Amino acid sequence: MSKAVILDCDPGHDDAIAIMLALASDSLDVRLITVSAGNSSIEKTTLNAMKVVSFLGKEVEVAAGAIKPLRREVQPDIETHGESGLDGPELPAPSFLLSSRTALEAQAAVLRESEEKVTIIPTGPLTNVALLLSAHPELTDKIERIVLMGGACFGGNWLPDAEFNIMIDPEAADIVFRSGVPITMCGLDVTLKAQIFPDEFEIFRKMTNKTGPLVAELLDFFHKSTTPPFMAEEGHEEGAHMHDICAVAWAIAPELFVTKNLNVQIETEGRLTLGCTVVDYNNVFGLSPNADVCFDIDRKGFLQLLIDNISTLL
Ligand code: BDR
Ligand code: CA
Repeated sequence: MSKAVILDCDPGHDDAIAIMLALASDSLDVRLITVSAGNSSIEKTTLNAMKVVSFLGKEVEVAAGAIKPLRREVQPDIETHGESGLDGPELPAPSFLLSSRTALEAQAAVLRESEEKVTIIPTGPLTNVALLLSAHPELTDKIERIVLMGGACFGGNWLPDAEFNIMIDPEAADIVFRSGVPITMCGLDVTLKAQIFPDEFEIFRKMTNKTGPLVAELLDFFHKSTTPPFMAEEGHEEGAHMHDICAVAWAIAPELFVTKNLNVQIETEGRLTLGCTVVDYNNVFGLSPNADVCFDIDRKGFLQLLIDNISTLL
């Protein structure tokens, strides 16, 4: 039986591939895609999500979410994802209309109407999920689990100790991590290990469908924009980091991951550490665990999962 899921994303190159994996997989039943502002403005991330779904020839409702984080401004990551939020390959205009419902309305309706519990997979800032949990506490027990890309036990990528998705809307992340809903956190500890290397891009480029070559082009851009030039100069081999794809992959095949059940709190005030996911690895605070934090991945198995699924698409 497939798992009912809602994707909440901000495409973004890795979000785009995460959408592809989710829509390809027989194990997932994607009921709705909602969009957050994050890598780019809500207008751009929404357009990008619709373009990806249209390209795949799939029919899924796409609903736009909040125009900005709960208490802060949008900070588009142009360096990583370009002006459009999905620079690189040219995608045709969407072939369907944006939902007339807001992300909040659509998420609440999907949860309310679902007979089984629904897994939410956020791969952008957690604004939409926090709004849902705040506006509809009565629906919390309809959520099976929140499997998110965000945070890190060790380190950061936007600040020394903060990851982009959490740092952009720390107040939203705080609401999510305090919600009591089971959480799987695919943070930088695992996503930096989930790399795909340039010679492996060719597997996708050579696929005979049209989606495989698109994945290769997205990886080309994302790899260039996220690999500092000094690495190449020093001969350091670094692949494309498959951040958001990890969250979808966990929902399909959790056995590929190594996790530890830990307590995670969000820093919402730190002068230097805003958006830090404080993962209490040694249980210093003595608080109950609230998240399964991913630390490792079977990289080859992950790559094979992606290959098998992308090759089934148009
Ligand atoms: C996260 O930030 C964005 O650039 C990616 O889409 C991913 O969700 C990684 O920190
Ligand atoms: Ca993302």
